[in-house]
Amino acid sequence: MANKTFALISFLFVFIACNQNNKTTTELTEQNKKDSLASCSINPNGQSELAILMREMQGHINSIRDIAIAGKMSGEMPEFLNTIHTAKPTDSSMVDSEFDARADEYLAAVKDLYHRYPESQKIAFNAVVAKCQSCHEHYCPGPLVVIKKMYIPL
Ligand code: HEC
Repeated sequence: MANKTFALISFLFVFIACNQNNKTTTELTEQNKKDSLASCSINPNGQSELAILMREMQGHINSIRDIAIAGKMSGEMPEFLNTIHTAKPTDSSMVDSEFDARADEYLAAVKDLYHRYPESQKIAFNAVVAKCQSCHEHYCPGPLVVIKKMYIPL
């Protein structure tokens, strides 16, 4: 009986110790994640090609917001947006195997906005912002505060 109790206690001890170990690993991963998120917040010193492109994408979407509200979008999507596939990120671990597919969804939404009838351009504009938002929820929530303010109230 004493032996069994001892075995049980040892088992519990090992079990708890392992669990605590797991927790430490999770905490470490969380910390790494936070560090990498911090580097994706709006950072004037961020000089990676992707960070610079993101600021240009932000400038682009801001510059067409009033045009979409007025329903006066014309022409084609600017070519430079396509470089989202080749621009180098600050940290290559930021970009995973889903990045290209997500980038394509964003590009498709922008192209769609350029080809919409005037009355549906606000909705198409918000669909682009939703792509910024979903990508940032996945990779780095830093710019979400700014992104959420871009939606056109309907
Ligand atoms: C395909 C995914 C994806 C999409 C779509 C996307 N972003 Fe980003 N964004 C990123 C990643 C990854 C970074 C980090 C880039 C780096 O630091 O190299 C970033 C960085 C940024 C930054 C910080 C740039 C800096 O100064 O460091 C801003 C601001 C930003 N994005 C805004 C936007 C806006 C606005 C849109 C929509 C027009 C958008 N993003 C669409 C993935 C995306």
